[in-house]
Amino acid sequence: MKEIKPVEIKENLIDLIKNQWMLVTAGNTEACNTMTASWGFAGYIWNRPVAVTVVRPQRYTYQFMEKEDTFSLCFFDEEYRDALKLCGSKSGRDIDKIQASGLSVNYTEAAPYFEEAKLVLICRKIAVSDIDPSQFIDADIDKNYPNKDYHRSYTGEILKVLNLINLIKGSFKSLNQSVKLKLPFYSSASIEKAALVTADDYRYKKRS
Ligand SMILES: Cc1cc2nc3c(=O)[nH]c(=O)nc-3n(C[C@H](O)[C@H](O)[C@H](O)COP(=O)(O)O)c2cc1C
Repeated sequence: MKEIKPVEIKENLIDLIKNQWMLVTAGNTEACNTMTASWGFAGYIWNRPVAVTVVRPQRYTYQFMEKEDTFSLCFFDEEYRDALKLCGSKSGRDIDKIQASGLSVNYTEAAPYFEEAKLVLICRKIAVSDIDPSQFIDADIDKNYPNKDYHRSYTGEILKVLNLINLIKGSFKSLNQSVKLKLPFYSSASIEKAALVTADDYRYKKRS
């Protein structure tokens, strides 16, 4: 994976979080846990790029988020939807979800993340705050909490962004230029398409 700057993230984070979901992962090389999340956001505050994830206190992941200084948010292609469904429906208290989902853990900045992800945000926990229903201006928000299990929100300074697609696309950008010199009749679009097919093939081979 290639490291890019937070401002270089090309993907729409609202689409990623809401529709594609993410894995929130914390722990250390001895023990870590992951869970699926589709609520959260990223932005800029306190002179730092940040990502915020919200975790209900009954989640097993909560204990890891409390204990560790860093955590990761990982985003995946659609082919990993089943893995995300598993990590969003089973608890790490009951099964080894990481093994069951077939994902490969790696570590950076002491945070666990998954090698299969297309985008990884490595975050350092810099603030927590508990969702306080007395501050809901729109009373409808409380309907999200029939069990009154208000989330704890974790603000993480984004320390590192790892991006698989950019690496593949980046290497094909230079290929594109050299191919274009030799084969000027090839369109950039067809070379880009070939690059993406090769990116998929690369990920497939990496998994198998
Ligand atoms: C699409 C989806 C989104 C979810 N979003 C969140 C979330 O933002 N916060 C949260 O606390 N739980 C969320 N969950 C629920 C947890 O992923 C789920 O309860 C999981 O089993 C917790 O695992 P754990 O006990 O191993 O931490 C979501 C589940 C799914 C399927």
